[in-house]
Amino acid sequence: MSDLGRMGNSSVERTKIAVLGMGHVGLPTALGLAELGWDVIGADSNPETVATLKSGKSWFYEPDLEPLLQKHLASGRFTPSDDVDGAIASATVLFVCVGTPQGDDGKADLTQIESIARMVARNLNGYKLIVEKSTVPAITAQWVKKTIARYSRVEPSLVGKGNGHGNGSQAAKPGKRVRAASTQPYFDVASNPEFLQEGRAIENFFKPDRIVIGVESERARELLEAIYRPLNCPIVVTNITTSELIKHAANAFLSTKISFINMVSDICEAVGADVVNVAKGIGLDPRIGTGFLSAGIGFGGYCFPKDLRAFMHLGEEHGADCALLKEVERINLRRTDIFLKKVRKALWVPQGKTIAVLGLAFKPRTDDIREAPALKIIKALLKEGASVRVYDPEAMPNARHVLPEEPGRVTYCRTAYETATGAHALLLLTEWKEFKELDLHRVRDLMEVPILVDGRNLYDPADASRAGFEYHSMGRDSVLHHFPVLTNVRPAVRRRQAATPAKLEKATTKLRAVAN
Ligand code: UGA
Repeated sequence: MSDLGRMGNSSVERTKIAVLGMGHVGLPTALGLAELGWDVIGADSNPETVATLKSGKSWFYEPDLEPLLQKHLASGRFTPSDDVDGAIASATVLFVCVGTPQGDDGKADLTQIESIARMVARNLNGYKLIVEKSTVPAITAQWVKKTIARYSRVEPSLVGKGNGHGNGSQAAKPGKRVRAASTQPYFDVASNPEFLQEGRAIENFFKPDRIVIGVESERARELLEAIYRPLNCPIVVTNITTSELIKHAANAFLSTKISFINMVSDICEAVGADVVNVAKGIGLDPRIGTGFLSAGIGFGGYCFPKDLRAFMHLGEEHGADCALLKEVERINLRRTDIFLKKVRKALWVPQGKTIAVLGLAFKPRTDDIREAPALKIIKALLKEGASVRVYDPEAMPNARHVLPEEPGRVTYCRTAYETATGAHALLLLTEWKEFKELDLHRVRDLMEVPILVDGRNLYDPADASRAGFEYHSMGRDSVLHHFPVLTNVRPAVRRRQAATPAKLEKATTKLRAVAN
């Protein structure tokens, strides 16, 4: 508890934390907080998820997560529980990490957030700080506040207005309207958006670029600053709505960078420039920055596509012009078509061809396949009559649910080399490190036809070409000259080029005669 000792506030030191929702955000957050010294309950209404966690296993793949889980199950600082009501009742700080999926019209579906607010209301047995960590549209916190007040019957005018540091011992009785002392609010709502990336969540938790907290009371601010102080990074304190908006703006901006470089990639291809070098050339300008300028098959995952839509929806609802973000989305949706066009151009006819696919996850270091461009590409190729052999280091169990094995049509393989065997083309769709390290000569030898279409610019065109591939990538010239049929022709070509001075003289005389 050494970190907590520095806070010098006994009520803070006794604070218990509950993290509600044990998903890609909640679980890394809960374990990170346990590592910082807090007692954390990891609550989830799914008993299977909780049973898996209790056994020391995570239900999804995330590097470095399981060792931390096992460490804090053993230390006793992390307690998984499927009793969400109990977790809320016994904790003071509640991090809300439930899902906010996309609704039919692009709007964020806040059903789970509302349900948590109502659960908080019925378990409001003292002061509680409810921290929104899930990505939500601006002004959600106001609804959370209203809902808790409405269902707990706490006077709304007294919520979030206090600056007291009391021990919160006055219990609100469910079903009874409670008058809180003006210096002692029964609850505060705060916003603390997460910026964790899947595949790097633990690393991101301990080394954040910044922490953003949106608060309405000193008490909420002090608690959150105390929690995050050991991380030693800039803490941006704002009002709640601003903090909520920062999260959507961050994801929208990163998506915009990706669509921008993808548009540049198409121009590069048309004029014979190299997008990787363009990205380097512009990215070294600190005003632009090198991150999120990798051209490819577009962004996927649970966050960018849905957050972009939710942000647009919010803007349009309030009369703001969101045309820029619409274009970002449109460019992204076209990426898979642009890639498929490349595949068709290389293969001519996909019908009856065997296509090897490396990578199914929406990005490396995760088993998450939600909105993965790879799956859209595979489905289109299957529709055109191709068969696929697929491999991903982590995402195959998830992929099998949406893309079941079908003999002769969809084959799951155990290694990248097995995948390439007998294929008429190899598609690189997720840039796992393991794929970068492949022996490309060996891969080529295993294939029926050595065509490599790289949707992530993972390989150096010269390396792919040296290994004997016809190589296509994104926003860079294709390398065609190593197609095997040309190898027999090469000596003849060389002979033609190696003209002797006498032959040249003879040819020149002939030309002059023609010209005269
Ligand atoms: C994203 C944000 O980066 C996190 O800061 C945020 O916390 C998270 O969403 C969230 O809202 O929960 P994540 O979806 O895990 O994180 O993944 P990213 O690394 O951002 O990648 C998103 C997609 O963009 C992937 O499909 C990736 O392949 C693609 N991408 C990324 C590119 O196509 N080019 C790039 O240069 C970078």
